[in-house]
Amino acid sequence: MRQLIRGRTLSFHADPVEVENAFTYHEDGAVLVEDGKIVATGDYATLRADGLPEIDHRPNLILPGFIDTHIHFPQVQVVASWGAQLLDWLNTYTFPEEARFSQQGHAPAMAEKFLDLLVQHGTTTAVAFCSVHPQSAEALFSAAEARNMAMIAGKVMMDRNAPEAVLDTPQQGYDDSKALIEKWHGRGRQRYAITPRFAITSTPQQMEMAGQLAREHPDCHIQTHLSENLDEIAFTLSLYPKARDYLDIYETYGLLGDKILLGHSIHLEEREIARMAETGSHPVFCPTSNLFLGSGLFDEGGLRARGIRAGIATDIGGGTSYSMLQTMNEGYKILQLRGQKLHPFAAFHWATRGNALVLGMEDRIGTLAAGTDADLVVLNSRATPAMTLRMERATTLAEELFILQIMGDDRAIAQTYVAGKPML
Ligand code: GUN
Ligand code: ZN
Repeated sequence: MRQLIRGRTLSFHADPVEVENAFTYHEDGAVLVEDGKIVATGDYATLRADGLPEIDHRPNLILPGFIDTHIHFPQVQVVASWGAQLLDWLNTYTFPEEARFSQQGHAPAMAEKFLDLLVQHGTTTAVAFCSVHPQSAEALFSAAEARNMAMIAGKVMMDRNAPEAVLDTPQQGYDDSKALIEKWHGRGRQRYAITPRFAITSTPQQMEMAGQLAREHPDCHIQTHLSENLDEIAFTLSLYPKARDYLDIYETYGLLGDKILLGHSIHLEEREIARMAETGSHPVFCPTSNLFLGSGLFDEGGLRARGIRAGIATDIGGGTSYSMLQTMNEGYKILQLRGQKLHPFAAFHWATRGNALVLGMEDRIGTLAAGTDADLVVLNSRATPAMTLRMERATTLAEELFILQIMGDDRAIAQTYVAGKPML
């Protein structure tokens, strides 16, 4: 069925940090959708046709749905756990919580809640860590498939330095990942991410198996963590005494390249930055998590200057909000502390096309271009009394977007479309 979704449309076709005219904006615009795909985006007057069903979102903005490039599905009940930095936080709160995902029925129930929360916050695609239990990934993929929602996910591989209940073995981790890849990778909109949690929780034998999976499935993404916290780095290097640095561990096992997403990547050595650039690997900035866990200040400008393209993400449950708006708010503040600026155009590009570029999926998601999937978010810049009052003084699109970036959250999400279907 054809449908016209009317509103103020905004879509980026280039990176506003790099070029002047990076986006297309239609004040009275519309997105023409058919069978879950965008047929055209343009002026309403041009696209309207007699008998064509319409939904009118004016004066709200219509953008491509947000993409979250690093989030932990089994941590929905870990968010807001008090008082710890990374390693204590994992041991005290996170590993025990993830252990619950072995219980019958828990993962399917949490998968529905997780996807509900994503769409309530305007996120239409996420790159998700599951628990070690294959049924957690199975549950997430099944629930996402039922909504025709594009997930990139993987069960974590972890075989040491955590409670027994959340450990696999090198062989089990390989076999379970392999079976999930064969079942889910490329099925509908689902894609698999090979997921060695991080070097601390994988033996060299398991890292070897992760590398083997990556060689056998070069079109799968790979997700892990890198240099988030100083104690983490020291412990990691003690476990891999031959490694030149943290990134060298992942390189040794053949994991680097443009498919890998390296969560956090805060405290980097010069050699690591050079190798990241040479291999096209992607760091992922997780602002609310980095502040909450006291991890450190990500150097977006420094990495960009070296030609490295970073993702931006919530990192629930180290992160504190599902909202990519709130993520951009905290990201703005971290970059302020770094003496860098996150302009609203750059921020909205980042959460949409920028993250799609990081995933190599900009031909499918992240823009309003014809032929791409109709994943959309509808934003209300006057969602709260404080935003309404502030909007009285806004005269430009950039100002309006910055109000959304700083003051917006799930209340500003008027609607979310996944493959053309309204989710709220
Ligand atoms: N490093 C390894 N596992 C995790 C996790 O679950 N969250 C965060 N923030 N860092 C990690
Ligand atoms: Zn993480």
